[in-house]
Amino acid sequence: MPRVVVIEGEDAAPEAVRPTIGLVDRLGLDIEWVRPDVDDYPATCRAIDESDATLFGATSGRSAAALFYLRWGKETYANVRPARWLPGFRSPMARPNGIDFVIVRENLEDLYVGVEGELESLRPFGLTSRMTRRNIADMGAGRFAVKAITEAGSERVVRFSFELARRRKAQGRRGKVTCASKYNMLPLSDGLFRDVAQRVAVEYPEIGFETFIVDDFARRLVATPQDLDVVVLPNLYGDILSDAAAGVIGGLGLAPSGCYGDRYAYFESAHGTAPDIAGQNAINPTATILSAVMMLEYLGRAEAARRLEAAVERVYALGRSLTRDQGGGASTTEFCAAVASELR
Ligand code: IPM
Ligand code: MG
Repeated sequence: MPRVVVIEGEDAAPEAVRPTIGLVDRLGLDIEWVRPDVDDYPATCRAIDESDATLFGATSGRSAAALFYLRWGKETYANVRPARWLPGFRSPMARPNGIDFVIVRENLEDLYVGVEGELESLRPFGLTSRMTRRNIADMGAGRFAVKAITEAGSERVVRFSFELARRRKAQGRRGKVTCASKYNMLPLSDGLFRDVAQRVAVEYPEIGFETFIVDDFARRLVATPQDLDVVVLPNLYGDILSDAAAGVIGGLGLAPSGCYGDRYAYFESAHGTAPDIAGQNAINPTATILSAVMMLEYLGRAEAARRLEAAVERVYALGRSLTRDQGGGASTTEFCAAVASELR
């Protein structure tokens, strides 16, 4: 029996998580849901360790420690964020048909290592700016942040991306990996990410491969998203551009995600906690429901995953029970009732 930890998160996030669990329960699976008290950090970590996966709402503070444990404690290095347009999604694009790509965001490194400090404290290291040719501490009072990119950390997320592209190709997709980083300005750190991707690409001759400088890539993501299949990005660019990708298909309420390590995975919508609509029964739970679909696939319940996904697809195709962000008038509860009624 799969055991799944539920961390609802804050603000409006629980309003999306609770009905999602209700929908999964309707599929007649044998999932055991475990709800640790997020204020008890050791108990939360223990519950996660003893589970097969976690379904996470979104955090604005209280459950952030649990989220960090799910990432760095469980080494979930590949943050998979699909951007697939479905008929009925309110995309701002004139022709959103055929948008179906996945961002694989490196999830543990880059500026997210969380090392910041005072510039002055760097003086003894004698770090010289390539631009000013002076000691970095001579810039004046200010702070720094460390961007750390490792060879092994880049390689595992790149490999994950190529394996994903291979599976998607077997399902009829294009079979291409696009890598973007700022390798022109950051030849050592972002350059390493790109070099590793280029090296791994050679092992996958049947998968297409291209690299772009990340600012140019940002334009392509908006201008020609249909050209993309699997996109691999360092952490911060992946964070930023996955929100942009969600915007392209119709909004953050539609964007699921799954974070995979070699031994664990957790699932979480790409959006935040939507404090502005908390308590209004207005949040669009689609991102959370589709994250649960990804979780069911991970747990080996592919048929149930497909049933839930198909129900969501039908509700959008019918277009009668959509939430406010999608131009409808339905509450979260009404949307979920419509999904439930479309379960086959
Ligand atoms: C995300 C979020 C998180 C991140 C925050 C909540 C720490 O924006 O999952 O995209 O920056 O990774
Ligand atoms: Mg984000």
